[in-house]
Amino acid sequence: MNIDNRPTRTLRPLGVGEAIEIIDQTALPHRYQTRRITSLAAAAHAIRDMQVRGAPLIGVTAAYGVALAMKESADDAALSSAVDLLGATRPTAVNLHWALARVRACLQPLPPAERAAAAWLEAGRIAEEDVSQCRRIGQHGLDLWRPLAATGKRINVMTHCNAGWLATVDYGTALAPVYAAFDARIDVHGWVSEPRPRNQGLLTAWELKQHGVPHTVIADNAAGLLLARGEVDAVIVGADRIAANGDVANKVGTYLKALAAFEARVPFYVAAPRSTIDFTCRDGNAIPIEERHGDELRLVQGLDDKDRPDSLRQLPSDEAVGNPAFDVTPARFVTAIITERGSCPATTDGLRGLYPEA
Ligand code: MRU
Repeated sequence: MNIDNRPTRTLRPLGVGEAIEIIDQTALPHRYQTRRITSLAAAAHAIRDMQVRGAPLIGVTAAYGVALAMKESADDAALSSAVDLLGATRPTAVNLHWALARVRACLQPLPPAERAAAAWLEAGRIAEEDVSQCRRIGQHGLDLWRPLAATGKRINVMTHCNAGWLATVDYGTALAPVYAAFDARIDVHGWVSEPRPRNQGLLTAWELKQHGVPHTVIADNAAGLLLARGEVDAVIVGADRIAANGDVANKVGTYLKALAAFEARVPFYVAAPRSTIDFTCRDGNAIPIEERHGDELRLVQGLDDKDRPDSLRQLPSDEAVGNPAFDVTPARFVTAIITERGSCPATTDGLRGLYPEA
């Protein structure tokens, strides 16, 4: 997608096996800043501290993290410890584990001397696949909205957190159909629900603005009111893990949106690529939910009155807080899951129908 009219991706390989360049998302929306990642430790830090975030982008970064590790040491022990270190960074997004398993399976049969180059190529393939899958999700999502668009009325789409191109390598998942609709000259407007405590809705607003898509930021808890008033035509979110029965883990607050959409009879879509579906996970109860540090709630981040990054204390440091980063939406509240292969009901049969080989 574009930044200042320049096509940009969230992650760029530099040289062959040397480094990757990422957009530091902790600085957005105030500052656009890139970082050069040259080691396994830096890749793990970037994921854990959410310089890169969003399930598909976490997976791609981890794949490159293994490649960077292999240039230092590529024996079996180094491979295992790289996979273990990266795998422990964020527990809910299954794309991370999917990408690590894929790179490991590619490298394991090779002699150590060939592993660094092979890992770099495999990470590049994962990144390219992510781009093409997200593009296709956009087209399939758009197909679902065409009847609505044919009425000529503005389509109001609500999304939650950031499942746009910043959360992937390009195009995004939940936002891909929004971009596809906008590019097809459909009158689309985004309700951008901004979750506490990391406020990723601000990232969504930033990238929609870069592309020129009309949007309005709302506090997370305003969603129910807008849905009840009939001001939303569809809700679309991404996912960090979809269980085999169609239950969906996504940014905390997604579940409440699904409940409100169900009550208001508004379709609730989940957009995600194959790498987000965990066929080994029977249902949502088996999905691990990441618990993040309480300081994310105790301190808010922003700019001071001189436009310098600063944090502001909202809660005393000894205040007990809970900070689950995701929740699980039961499949019965999901109208359809949109993947690169098309859309399906959020059921075991629906997912199996799209991925009979899984
Ligand atoms: O904690 P984050 O910012 O990584 O969470 C991101 C989300 O919950 C996204 O909706 C999800 O990863 C899908 S991204 C295409």
